[in-house]
Amino acid sequence: ERTGTGPRMRSSMIIVAHRGASAYAPENTLAALREAHRRGADMAELDVRQTADGAFVVMHDPTLRRTTNAGAVFPERRPWRVCDFTLAEIRRLDAGSWYGPAFAGEPVPTLEEALETLKDNGLGALVELKVRRRDPAAALRLIGRIAADPHWRGAGADSRLILQSFDWTALRGIAEHLPGARTAVLGTTYSRLALRRVARYASQVNPHHLRVSAPYVRHVHEHGLTMFSWTVNTDSAIRRVIRDGVDGIISDYPDRVAGHLAVA
Ligand code: G3P
Ligand code: CA
Repeated sequence: ERTGTGPRMRSSMIIVAHRGASAYAPENTLAALREAHRRGADMAELDVRQTADGAFVVMHDPTLRRTTNAGAVFPERRPWRVCDFTLAEIRRLDAGSWYGPAFAGEPVPTLEEALETLKDNGLGALVELKVRRRDPAAALRLIGRIAADPHWRGAGADSRLILQSFDWTALRGIAEHLPGARTAVLGTTYSRLALRRVARYASQVNPHHLRVSAPYVRHVHEHGLTMFSWTVNTDSAIRRVIRDGVDGIISDYPDRVAGHLAVA
């Protein structure tokens, strides 16, 4: 039985709750992170963005519109871009009611709060840095926040902390300034040449599940890289990526993945 006592290799397979267990609680909230623990995840994936005053908040979209009540609280601030709001303003918002009344009043977490919740629940962190292009300093600021806590600072060698991004520049910055940190390149199916390049600074390649195949997993492994795939929600997709040999599965339904691994 999966006890949620912490990230661990289970026949080399890691279960990652996507934006927390986002099928069961509002994505990227502390409630979703706690639910990830209850649903048998080893890690939780979360997205971070910077506010106007440089804080990191946990938010997937570039705007606050879909997952908060920003439109009602700040009707004149269209299009409600995260980067145009201060942390104090964002903290006035409700990030739970859109999902359901049981989650009314759930705040937008800061990165620090999210990491604390993951630590308290024995979960690892797969932190996706959503950065504006040409802002290499963002990666360094992110490292500063994470490295402030010894629990996360020393976590590079195991599966406790992985930093991922679609932005290769940001990842190179992380690799240079936080040696030992595990980083993951998000994206497509890379050629052998691209994988050789990626392997210089990243430890992982994380493609969409439709990009996964057994030969591609082999190529990635041959370059000394591991692979987590996203966002794997249906039973057939879960079965397929397990068969193809990925190292981790990122899903809105971590309990569903756990069920497949139990019978695999
Ligand atoms: O973990 C990878 C996945 O989260 C990337 O896509 O749009 O859900 O951030 P997105
Ligand atoms: Ca993400």
